[in-house]
Amino acid sequence: MKRLLIVSNRLPISVSRKNGDLRLQRSVGGLATGVGSFYKSYESLWVGWPGINIQKQQNEEKERIVDVLRKEQCHPVFLSPYDIRHYYDGFCNNTLWPLLHYFNLHAEYDPKTWQVYQRVNEKFCDAVMEVARPDDTIWVHDYHLMLLPQMLRERLPDAEIGYFHHIPFPSFEVFRHLPWREEILSGLLGADLIGFHTYGYVRHFLSSVRRLLGYEHTFGEVRTGTRVVRTDLFPMGIDYHRFADSAGSAPVQKEITRIRQMYGKRKIILSFDRMDYTKGIPLRLEAFDALLEKKPDYQGKVSLVLVAVPSRTGVRSYQTLKKRIDELVGRINGKYGTTDWVPVRYFYNFLPFETLVAFYSAADVALVTPLRDGMNLMAKEYVATRTDGTGVLILSEMAGAAEELGEAIIVNPNDRDAVIEAIETALAMPEKEQIERNRTMQRRLMRYDIEHWVGDFLTRLGDARTVRV
Ligand code: G6P
Repeated sequence: MKRLLIVSNRLPISVSRKNGDLRLQRSVGGLATGVGSFYKSYESLWVGWPGINIQKQQNEEKERIVDVLRKEQCHPVFLSPYDIRHYYDGFCNNTLWPLLHYFNLHAEYDPKTWQVYQRVNEKFCDAVMEVARPDDTIWVHDYHLMLLPQMLRERLPDAEIGYFHHIPFPSFEVFRHLPWREEILSGLLGADLIGFHTYGYVRHFLSSVRRLLGYEHTFGEVRTGTRVVRTDLFPMGIDYHRFADSAGSAPVQKEITRIRQMYGKRKIILSFDRMDYTKGIPLRLEAFDALLEKKPDYQGKVSLVLVAVPSRTGVRSYQTLKKRIDELVGRINGKYGTTDWVPVRYFYNFLPFETLVAFYSAADVALVTPLRDGMNLMAKEYVATRTDGTGVLILSEMAGAAEELGEAIIVNPNDRDAVIEAIETALAMPEKEQIERNRTMQRRLMRYDIEHWVGDFLTRLGDARTVRV
């Protein structure tokens, strides 16, 4: 079997320093969780950034990191503080991320960060060249590395190269704002197969390719003049059984008992995300506030558990968001809280897997209302964890996952009244109906799980070897 070379900005394992030692931790985010759950079952090597700042001269530490990561089938690409500032915080998270999520007013267009983005993509290309074997299948992931497929194509003309885009691809009218839009599209077209989560993203991408590069497409195939590049949708699944099976495990059951003791008979609404402005957390808090005000009967009977995992703390818009959320939580708790009831339980922290699954299991409602989200695996994880079939998912229509989870209560996250109504409906939903809705979604998620997703993408990639025309 061919070896699979996975390339992404972030490795599934992050390395940090603690008292002079190196500490390994699972990385957060959809890509690391999703792809991270299967790669070890393949003959594979994962090339990416280990999440630690390294100065050029720290060679001894670099070697130690290479060694510890080798055991995890990972190969590090070291980024300097300068790279992180201009490439990761800068072009990736201050330009591409907001633009591709339709937050064009947040996007900054700085030629300096663009230059560093190109250079870091070359750095990744060099790192791949260090480890690549002639027969490897190379699978590049996400918006940090949109130039990499073409760079690799130039150095490995016959390689099998796939690219998967984990975030939305916006409409042409939004994408066209980017000053380097043609370069980004040409970078992607170095791949043999380009995958997206939804049909909408595929359509938007093809329309940008046609309008900006003039390449026609039929049935998802783009003709560049020298090659044919395939595009298709591959909605990412989850490691279904990991979530379903863990729900009954002893450590999770212990956590559930602890949570239940803490909340007593109160209903729990769970909100769990990376701390990111695309997730719509302030609107969610405002809706909860309005609900308590409008329907005082809920006071003392419902708690919102708000878990926000720290993310991209070097980027200003994320710092501003954190402040806003701190204030909102403080305001709501100050307004309604009593000596024995905290309306919003707020954790700005990383949750261990068992605690997360316990919260999924204990929560009566999961409130997943991003303003834009490529997929949102959390919505799927919640449904998978509900082995007795109960629990209600409220899901934003702006999340890719909404295309597959139509039995959830689907809302427009900007419509506060609709969100309030959805919470009320969820809290009052009869158990029989909860079970019917969840069972249908569970069957779908079980069938199209992460293994299926990988298999599907790699099979299509195998079939889609570059055709010269
Ligand atoms: C999203 C992106 C991933 C990214 C993750 C976490 O899910 O699609 O590529 O890894 O967010 O963000 P971070 O900046 O911490 O890698």
